[in-house]
Amino acid sequence: MDQLEKKISSLDKSRMPVHVAMIMDGNGRWAKQQGFARSDGHTEGISTVHRVTKMSSDLGIKYLTLYAFSTENWNRPSDEVATLMYLIGWAIERELPELLSNNVRIHLLGDIERIPEEPRQKLFYARDSSAHCTGMQLNICLSYSSRWEITDAARKLAKLAAEGKIEPDSITEEMVADNLTTTGMPDPDLLIRTGGEERVSNYLLWQIAYSELYFTPVLWPDFSNEEYVDAIIDFQNRERRFGKTSEQVQNNE
Ligand code: FPP
Repeated sequence: MDQLEKKISSLDKSRMPVHVAMIMDGNGRWAKQQGFARSDGHTEGISTVHRVTKMSSDLGIKYLTLYAFSTENWNRPSDEVATLMYLIGWAIERELPELLSNNVRIHLLGDIERIPEEPRQKLFYARDSSAHCTGMQLNICLSYSSRWEITDAARKLAKLAAEGKIEPDSITEEMVADNLTTTGMPDPDLLIRTGGEERVSNYLLWQIAYSELYFTPVLWPDFSNEEYVDAIIDFQNRERRFGKTSEQVQNNE
């Protein structure tokens, strides 16, 4: 049994995270370290996406949410934006057969209409072709930011109120959640950020209210399956109290 298999077998199968979210940071720095162009870092990052997706599905994770392109990423140099858009379309097209054979359902979160036509059509095709899949759901966040999403939810609820369809005072947390892009999904149990920065960068701010956060200095292209399992082991060693006391949690109150 190799090191990875040993780690996997040490996992508590009854306490696996249902939903894992990831911030895939460090592609640019990885490329710089190797003396490569930033785009090579993103290409290498796609190999990690492939590996992490397969690993998540094999581990029985039900939802994997990846921050592929943020609203703020539109402000990067236009050639990097164009490369990323091309790579995202290319990757989804290339990965689709294997995703389908692993019964993975693809879901897109974000302001997808802003994605250029060609990659957008590839993403829609992948989403629609995988709609029947019943295994892991892979959420790809594109042109996504939490503030955009929460603002959009506020707009939708305000419209319903203005039309007299709901009472402003009757708006509940559930109604807000139902108007986010993650409607119907459980909140992430675990958020992993690679690349050494310890911040959440406008990602799933509503949904990670009680998520366990795991930060690693490892750059995304170097994020190995072993590192991933280490993050889950760390998660399993934490006590999730959701605002209760430790005694209440231990007595299952
Ligand atoms: C952050 O690294 C990474 C990104 C902005 C892009 C991540 C996207 C991919 C790996 C492609 C995903 C594709 C699919 C289909 C899910 P950075 O460039 O900010 O790195 P740095 O902080 O070292 O500069």
